[in-house]
Amino acid sequence: MSGPNSQFDPVEVAVLQPEAVDAAREAALAAIEAAGDPEELKAVRTAHAGDRSPLALANREIGALPPQARKEAGQRVGKARGAVEQALGRRAAVLEAEHEERMLATETVDVTLPTDRQPAGARHPLTTGAELIADIFVAMGWEVAEGPVIEAEWLNFDALNLGPDHPARTMQDTFWTEPASDHLVLRTQTSPVQARTMLSRTPPIYVVSPGRVFRTDEYDATHSPVFHQVEGLAIDRGISMAHLKGTLDHFATAMFGEGITTRFRPSYFPFTEPSAEVDLVCFVCRGSGTDPERGGSVVCRTCKGEGWIEWGGCGVVNPRVLRACGVDDTEFTGFAFGMGIDRSLMFRHGISDMRDLFEGDVRFATTFGSEL
Ligand code: DAH
Repeated sequence: MSGPNSQFDPVEVAVLQPEAVDAAREAALAAIEAAGDPEELKAVRTAHAGDRSPLALANREIGALPPQARKEAGQRVGKARGAVEQALGRRAAVLEAEHEERMLATETVDVTLPTDRQPAGARHPLTTGAELIADIFVAMGWEVAEGPVIEAEWLNFDALNLGPDHPARTMQDTFWTEPASDHLVLRTQTSPVQARTMLSRTPPIYVVSPGRVFRTDEYDATHSPVFHQVEGLAIDRGISMAHLKGTLDHFATAMFGEGITTRFRPSYFPFTEPSAEVDLVCFVCRGSGTDPERGGSVVCRTCKGEGWIEWGGCGVVNPRVLRACGVDDTEFTGFAFGMGIDRSLMFRHGISDMRDLFEGDVRFATTFGSEL
C-alpha cells in the first residue's frame, strides 16, 4: 500500500503547471479576440470558459492537491479564469454594439420610397347589397331564384297579365331584341322570375330574386337604363295581405334599421290584386317630416315633408297570374313585391347620385368594400 500523499507536488498534475495554465489563458484570450460576432463568441465561451474547458478542468484538480499547495494553485487558476471572464465580457459588449449597428444599417427602411403595391380592390356595393337582401330572406327560410336578363316577351308581360295593349309594352320602355319575331326582350322587371318559378315548382313557394333589369330610361341622378330590382314571391295556402305587410316591415327594418317600417298606398299592377305602393318611414326625419338638424319648422328635404318615401310595389298575386303559371288558384294564394335595389342602397348609404353606382370608380366602391 502506498502512504499518504502528503508530499504531492502540484507540478506533477500536468494541467496545473504554470505553463499549462498560462497557455490555456493565452489560447482563450486569443480566441476571444478572434471571435467576429456574438455567435462565434458563444462558441469560444463554451470552449474556453465552459465546464469542460482546460481552465475548468484545472480548477477541478485543485481539490486533489495537498492543502499547502492549494492556495497558490487556486490563485493562479482563479486569476487566469478571471482574466478570461473579463475578456469575454469586454468582447461581448464590443460585438453586441457592432451587431446592433450592422442591423440598424442593413434594416433601414426608406419611408420616402414610392410604393408599387397594388391597392386592394373591393366588392361592389351592388353585389354586397344584393347579398344582404338575399340573406334577410334566406334567414326566414326563403330561397334565392334567378332568371335570364334576355327574357321571353310572354314571361316578361303576358304571363303577368300585362296584355298586348299595356303601355309598358310599347317601344318607349322596353328594349326589344332583333329580329322581333323571336319575341325576346331585355327584361324590364324581375317579375318574370315569379312566372318562371311558379311554372317550374309546386307550392309552397318562397323565393326572392335580385337581378338586373333594363328600360329605355334617361341616364341621370335618379334613373339609369340598367338598374336592379329585387322580386319576392310567396305562394302557399291561406296567404294574405297581412303576411305581405309583416314580411315587408321586417325587410325594411333589417335593411334600414329599427323604427323604419312600411305603409301601403292603394295602387294598380296587372299581376297583383289588390295592389299597393310601399312607402318607408323616412330614414332621415324618421317620419316627422321636418329637418332633424335644422329644427321643427324646416321641411325634411329627403321626403319633402311627407314623412314617407316610395320604396316599391306589392300586392296579392292576381289569380289570373296563378292560373297562367299553372298554380291552382282555388287552393293557393300568394303575395309578391318588387323594389329597386339601387334606390334602396341610395337610401341606406346616403348616395345622392345613382350614377355613382354604375361608373365603376374604385374610390367609390372601396368605401363600401368592408361591408359583408
Ligand atoms: N315589377 C314592378 C315594377 O317594375 C314592381 C312590382 C310591383 C313587383 C308589384 C311586384 C309587385 O312583384 O307585386 O314596377
